[in-house]
Amino acid sequence: MTGQKIDGTTVANSVKDLVRASVAELKKEGVEPCLATILVGDNPASSSYVTSKQKDCADVGIATKDHRLPQEFTQLELDSLINLLNNDKTVHGILVQLPLPKLLDEFSTISRISPIKDVDGLTPYNVGLLASGRAILKPCTPLGIMELFDYYNIGLSGKNVIIINRSNLVGKPLYHLLLEKNATVTTCHSKTKNIKDQCLNADIVVTAVGDRTRFILTADMIREDAVVIDVGTSRINDKIVGDVDYENVIKKASYVTPVPGGVGPMTRAMLLKNTVTAASISKGFVTNR
Ligand SMILES: NC(=O)c1ccc[n+]([C@@H]2O[C@H](COP(=O)([O-])OP(=O)(O)OC[C@H]3O[C@@H](n4cnc5c(N)ncnc54)[C@H](OP(=O)(O)O)[C@@H]3O)[C@@H](O)[C@H]2O)c1
Repeated sequence: MTGQKIDGTTVANSVKDLVRASVAELKKEGVEPCLATILVGDNPASSSYVTSKQKDCADVGIATKDHRLPQEFTQLELDSLINLLNNDKTVHGILVQLPLPKLLDEFSTISRISPIKDVDGLTPYNVGLLASGRAILKPCTPLGIMELFDYYNIGLSGKNVIIINRSNLVGKPLYHLLLEKNATVTTCHSKTKNIKDQCLNADIVVTAVGDRTRFILTADMIREDAVVIDVGTSRINDKIVGDVDYENVIKKASYVTPVPGGVGPMTRAMLLKNTVTAASISKGFVTNR
């Protein structure tokens, strides 16, 4: 028996259809959802991510404001721009593309974003709300993974879930979202001993290492019928690959996300969903009370 491929592109398209409809509704109420993006420096990968995010927005009717700034842009200038966007009533979401150039402080930059415009869900305020089970704007990749579980009716209550990643972007927020759904969650990282034993005990394995020279999730590391979510992306010979030995793992697992076409499109779709949520918050249509 071969497991089922989780088709992130199809699920993302269904999310985008809903977002498109919400944007149309908001426009009828006089709200024009708008995402401001900030890119500092000339990292080609970051630049193409920002361009894709803007295309996605255009596709569902969300307006964008594109701020592409030179590598030498100072912290003071960046702080002033964020203050300006925080106070701009026509802007509902603010996205700072990471990583920032080394001379800029990512934590203080992100912290400056107004929590109600924080469409990446990374400000300390929203991180705190997430840990309290009260967040409205949640980090896009974990949110997209949760949407995949939902779409494929993959139950989480009482399940053993292993997350191989402890970053602020992926592992930590996903931990909280899974806990909210009554999963039993274990977080692994580069210092964890016996990851294979941990994985063999898991109903669901989420891996987000992104470096196949350090880690590959192989079929002998999972139990029969496990669900495997591959977040990792590495570039090998100009090809994007994940952490998972997909061809062999899918023969043993019940569900596996491919790379590309799994978690990636969901992350992008969730940014759109968060932007619409932020636009709704600005009108008082959504609160967490
Ligand atoms: N598809 C998408 O939408 C999407 C979205 C976000 C991220 N990603 C991808 O996901 C990957 C992770 O992103 P990130 O921002 O979270 O990166 P990161 O901060 O570098 O996290 C990598 C994690 O992997 C752990 N790790 C490294 N080597 C390991 C090993 N040998 N065994 C077990 N764990 C190991 C690290 O542990 P330590 O903490 O101990 O260093 C860390 O927790 C990247 O490939 C990124 O491109 C994809």
